[in-house]
Amino acid sequence: MTNLHIIDHPLVQHKISLMRDKNTGSKEFRELVSETAMLMTYEATRNLPLKEVEIETPVAVAKTKVISGRKMAFVPILRAGLGMAEGAVTLVPAAKIGHIGIFRDPTTHKAVEYYAKLPVDIAERDVIVTDPMLATAGTAIASIAKIKEAGAASIKFMCIIASRYGVEKLMAAHPDVEIYCGAVDEELNENLYIVPGLGDAGDRIFGTK
Ligand code: PRP
Ligand code: URA
Repeated sequence: MTNLHIIDHPLVQHKISLMRDKNTGSKEFRELVSETAMLMTYEATRNLPLKEVEIETPVAVAKTKVISGRKMAFVPILRAGLGMAEGAVTLVPAAKIGHIGIFRDPTTHKAVEYYAKLPVDIAERDVIVTDPMLATAGTAIASIAKIKEAGAASIKFMCIIASRYGVEKLMAAHPDVEIYCGAVDEELNENLYIVPGLGDAGDRIFGTK
């Protein structure tokens, strides 16, 4: 699974354990989502190209490196992806942010789109889509299709917990998209929730249940 990157950094793994705990309240959960996304962005941007520049330090001229090439955009999937985008953008403050509103219908479990607003120049940007949960992958597949329709060609998907099934579905639907996640759980339950997972990410971030 060459397109799957599991971020096994101890800080990420520790924070995921805290998020899985049902006794972790909304305030702490929201902070953990943001911090985890920030650490994952560090890994997901590891291959950004650099170019050499000359900068005058107070002592001498230094040949040093800055990021070159295309600019970035983060696209959180509403609602839960918002919590991750907030952390990600602290590392890349110049990035633009698009929004895709898709929820999973609780009965049919199909992705229902209700909102989309993407940067006009998204085709020229490297895009990282954020959503804490990849369960059946219906939401991620539909969101990425929408972002491709808008012209984007370089897309990564960043989630906190994925199901094995969701990873396989997403890879089959969008083989060009690299997936960054903190953990892959083996099961989905009868409501298509990830097991053991962390529950409903949106509700836990926003305290709506
Ligand atoms: C959750 C989650 C993903 C989706 C994953 O959102 O944040 O977007 O479900 O499920 P899937 O992989 O089976 O499509 P939800 O639909 O609960 O919406 P919300 O963020 O508004 O709570
Ligand atoms: N959405 C969530 O928030 N959690 C799951 O486990 C599955 C879908």
